[in-house]
Parts: sequence; C-alpha cells; structure tokens
Amino acid sequence: MSESIPQFSPSDAQKDMAAGLRQAGCAVITGLTDEGQRQELRAELADHLAEAEFKTTEDSADFYPGRTRRVTALVTRSKTAQTLILDPCIKALCDEMLLPNCERHQLHVTAALEVGPGARAQTLHREEDPFAFFPLPRPNLIVATMWAISDFTADNGATLLVPGSHLWPEDRVHTPDEVVSAEMPAGSVLLWLGGTLHGAGANISKDSRYGVILTYSLGWLRQEENQFLDVPPEMAQQLSPELLEAIGYPMYNALGVYDPRVALGSEAPPVTTASHRDPI
Ligand SMILES: [Fe+2]
Repeated sequence: MSESIPQFSPSDAQKDMAAGLRQAGCAVITGLTDEGQRQELRAELADHLAEAEFKTTEDSADFYPGRTRRVTALVTRSKTAQTLILDPCIKALCDEMLLPNCERHQLHVTAALEVGPGARAQTLHREEDPFAFFPLPRPNLIVATMWAISDFTADNGATLLVPGSHLWPEDRVHTPDEVVSAEMPAGSVLLWLGGTLHGAGANISKDSRYGVILTYSLGWLRQEENQFLDVPPEMAQQLSPELLEAIGYPMYNALGVYDPRVALGSEAPPVTTASHRDPI
C-alpha cells in the first residue's frame, strides 16, 4: 500500500512543510515559479539543450535513460537557475534537514532535463548512495529538488518515489504498489531526502517533460558536481557572496584551503565568510 506525497502551497507554515518532508521523505510545493521565470530559464538553456547528447537507443545498464537531453553547470549557464538555487523557502527546508549535521550546506548538483517521448523509467536509487560509508538508514546528507518547468504527469515520466523509504534498513525492498508518481503542475517543486528511493518515470506520452534538478548536501561532503571547475575563479568573482556561499566556494572550517596568488593571481582572497578559519 503506497503512502502519498504531502502537498503544500508557499503560504503554508514552514514547520508543516518540514514535518511532511521529514515524515514522508518527499513533498511537493506548488507555485514557486511563474510562467515568466520558466520561459526565461528555457531561453537561457535552449542552445545548450539543443547541443546535448540525445541517445535514441535504450541500454538498461545505463544509469541515465536514453531519449533525454541533460545539461549541467547551471550556475554558469542560467541566471534564473541562480535565483532558484537561493530560493528562501527551499533554503529554510534545507536548513531544517541538514544543519543538524553541518554548519553550512552547499549546492550538490544542478541539471536541466528534457525527457523525451519513449524514455524508459530510471532505476530507483538514493541520492546518498555515493556515501555508502553510512549504513541505512543514513543521517540526512542530501536534500534534492526537482523544479517542474512543464507539467509533470504519470504519462510523461513524473519522478517516481517510494515515500517513507528514507527510514528503511538495507534489507527492506520496495514493492511495486509502494511506488508513487509525483504528478505536479508546472511551477511546482518536488523535494525529497537523500535517503528516499526515487527515479525518473517512463515517458509514454507524446510530449517532453522538462525539469530542473538542484540538490544540496552537507558542507563537509564532496559535491557531486565540481563547482570549482564548472564555476571557474574568474566567474566566481562576479557572483554575489550569497551565491558563492550557496555553491560551496568558501572554506568549510579547514576544508578547501587555497592560495589566492595561485588561483587568482592576487593576494586578496575574494571568498571569505564568518566560518572561514585559518587552517594552520
Ligand atoms: Fe536521483
């Protein structure tokens, strides 16, 4: 028997959203972007998506299904994505879920996904699987978000989730009737915890499904997407301190020390925060 995905609107109390997310391991918040923002994002990424690889064959051994265009490095490629990364509602929920385990969370990975007709379903997995050091159920390490740029329906491959699976031990296997499709209108955001089983659904419709995935992790973990290469120092200098901190550029305690004379050709480090500490 499947649990449902809790649904919220931006005017709902933050504590209720956090409670729903904590209990089900996933939640949907409707109405976090408007049509204008979604059009802007589409325009910013259109050329990149057009150039992206599009496999017309399906290999069940591939982690990523075919017939899907995928573009990463969204901090560099999209001003709108930069705004979404800093969304205050999402930040508050990340604070709630991740700050018990770290002093600061960071952007973990970014991607725009256009899932075309005929794309198969993705194998269900946990975002925290790269951190296998921790036994299941793991402490909260990651919060993931999927921003619906188009409508997400069961037919066009809306994300599949197993609510409650973030609390399961290693030997608990899901049954087909425990899998739920995160149907949501464009403008909504699906959140899920790093321990929640999930994967892209199969697109059996005639249309593409467009989503943007932004995930966040504890500040002391290795990020899935290498922001130091995707956001090179010359570009980092143009970003706001708030965004730099969000993408994990500043030092985390003694982690991430660098020599500004090498990285930037200058004596003055451009990135310092209250948590910056001299490691020596
Ligand atoms: Fe995933």
